[in-house]
Amino acid sequence: MTATTERAVGSDVRRIDGPDKVRGLARYAFEHEVDGTAVFVALVQSTAAKGRITALDVSAAEAVPGVLAVLTHENAPRLGEVAEEIVVLQSDRVQYVGQPVAAVVAETSEVARDAAARVAVSYDAQTPDVELRTDRDDLYAPEELMAGFETDSVIGDVDAALAAAPVSVDVTYETPNQHNNPIEMHATVARWDGDVLRMWDANQGPHNLVPVITEAFGITEDQLHITSPYVGGAFGSKAYTHVHQLIAGMAAKVTGRTVKLELTRPQMFTLVGHRTPTIQRLRLGARPDGTLTAISHEVVEHTSQNAEFAEQTATATRLMYSAPARRTTHRLARLDVPAPTIMRAPGETPGMYALESAMDELATALGIDPVELRLRNEPDRDPERDVPWSTRNLVACLRQGAERFGWSGRDPRPGVRTDGRWLVGTGVAAATYPTRRRPSAARIEAVPDKPYVVSIDASDIGTGAWTALTQIAADALRVPMSEIDLRIGDSRLPKASGAGGSTGITSWGPAIMAAAQQLADREVPPGGLTVTGEAGPGDEAEQYSSHAFGAHFAEVRVDRDSGEVRVPRMTGVFAAGRIINATTGRSQFLGGMTMGLSMALHEESVLDLARGHYANHDLAEYHIAANADVGEVDISWIDESDDLHNPLGAKGIGEIGIVGSAAAIGNAYWHATGRRVRDLPITPDKYFR
Ligand code: MOS
Repeated sequence: MTATTERAVGSDVRRIDGPDKVRGLARYAFEHEVDGTAVFVALVQSTAAKGRITALDVSAAEAVPGVLAVLTHENAPRLGEVAEEIVVLQSDRVQYVGQPVAAVVAETSEVARDAAARVAVSYDAQTPDVELRTDRDDLYAPEELMAGFETDSVIGDVDAALAAAPVSVDVTYETPNQHNNPIEMHATVARWDGDVLRMWDANQGPHNLVPVITEAFGITEDQLHITSPYVGGAFGSKAYTHVHQLIAGMAAKVTGRTVKLELTRPQMFTLVGHRTPTIQRLRLGARPDGTLTAISHEVVEHTSQNAEFAEQTATATRLMYSAPARRTTHRLARLDVPAPTIMRAPGETPGMYALESAMDELATALGIDPVELRLRNEPDRDPERDVPWSTRNLVACLRQGAERFGWSGRDPRPGVRTDGRWLVGTGVAAATYPTRRRPSAARIEAVPDKPYVVSIDASDIGTGAWTALTQIAADALRVPMSEIDLRIGDSRLPKASGAGGSTGITSWGPAIMAAAQQLADREVPPGGLTVTGEAGPGDEAEQYSSHAFGAHFAEVRVDRDSGEVRVPRMTGVFAAGRIINATTGRSQFLGGMTMGLSMALHEESVLDLARGHYANHDLAEYHIAANADVGEVDISWIDESDDLHNPLGAKGIGEIGIVGSAAAIGNAYWHATGRRVRDLPITPDKYFR
């Protein structure tokens, strides 16, 4: 082991898992080799949205040569109570279109699918109710929102402040159902070794799955071993346990074989969650100088029959700007849809789209430049919690972004610039995402003259965490990166938080540093030494308000003959704490901004109101921005280290890039055309309505 004083953190290191991924050597869950002994599972999904199964005929399926078992609610193993929320072959009740009603296990995937098509199911079906509207009389206030946020917040007399405001806007925005579409489909390989359930699974942290799977199968943590080394994207859909993992476990139990279950792309539109649609009413009141006097953000969104999911859509509004009177509310409609889940910056993404669009409309009403309006409403403390920011550099992001984008001298009038048949406009929006850390542990095994084996059940879902954690470990142990052998993605490794909420680096990095600290000043004996370190939140969360911030600028061109929308350039500037790796960090911002562009212009899952299913459930009809949709993307960040939050000074960067980017594009669209589209996505037809 060679001591080094060079710092790996902050240097521009290539992704260490890159070569194996490019050469096809990196094994994803479904590719786990089982020497040709695996059998395959195919799902039969409900065509009814609501009602009861009245008859199931599996005889034709069972008669197909190669079929080993057909599981239905009549014969499937009974699972713990937790399975009720996930709806996994435990009763005849149907709660959404696409709900698994049978699972066929067969020697090949082709046989399994063929047999699945032969399962006959009859339903006593009722008309589904899947329409989100603000005039529904069954809207309710959930007890709390996701991540423990309070459902509502009220400060001051909002209605009076709005009525008295010299300038105000009252606008409603709608965001559609959206689906996570990582490249790697969700997949599980499962086998029972005696009473131990062994799984190779695509997820955002094996430990995330342990509570539900152990409860479902009535086993202890020692009886469950999940491995998940490489994951091909996730964005939230792989954060929690879904129905397919439980079915894989049941199928393995019933057949005594190793089973492989991979969802098809269409199945990913029903079985692994979606982003709830939202209807958001924004009311802003201001003095003529732009100072906000009232902020009201009321959200209506949906949840499902089987599980409550309450997205925290307006929570970013609570801290973004100050005003003496402020209100946020969240109301849910419980519909006959699959359960929603998290999708990259759940809450902040749709919520900041609405707030930052409304700020643009207010800027227009005031005749104040939209960058300037935000600068004039910069709070010096968290206005909701009345505590200081650990760091807040939104102003620097806006100024640097305006400079890089070339904002100054912008003509505020909409619809006046043309380039041939193109209408041209520019827009801006701000971004924020909370900085958090979660308890995690790490282990280091030191053996003289060998690389340090650093183990933590972290997860690299494509973010570059593998590389960044290796950099952190190298610095903590004062050795070059080549002397670190990092092991992640295994429930038998020290327990760590899942890859979610942009908390990976802020949670796992300090755990590795704590383990390294145990080794400092200790002589490693010839036989080696193993140490464990733990790290987690302290009182920084009470003392400070910690958030990443950002600013987006976009140029939009709209073809006035066809309504086609192009985004030739975007600028993103972020204040997201210490950036561990410039290359993978830039990729995170770029991916987020691209997903925001995709949200602004393309993504929408269309619910068939009569039958209750997502009609466009494949990549031919659910459009996602492709390379050709993305123009120049200029990404930079503020030199910032949030040392009050965690010893790395990092804030987490997985989600901040998407927040606000759809608003910047929508605002630029208005500037180009003079038309305000308040329901995403901004498809070509909306130019003509
Ligand atoms: Mo992210 S939506 O917290 O996986």
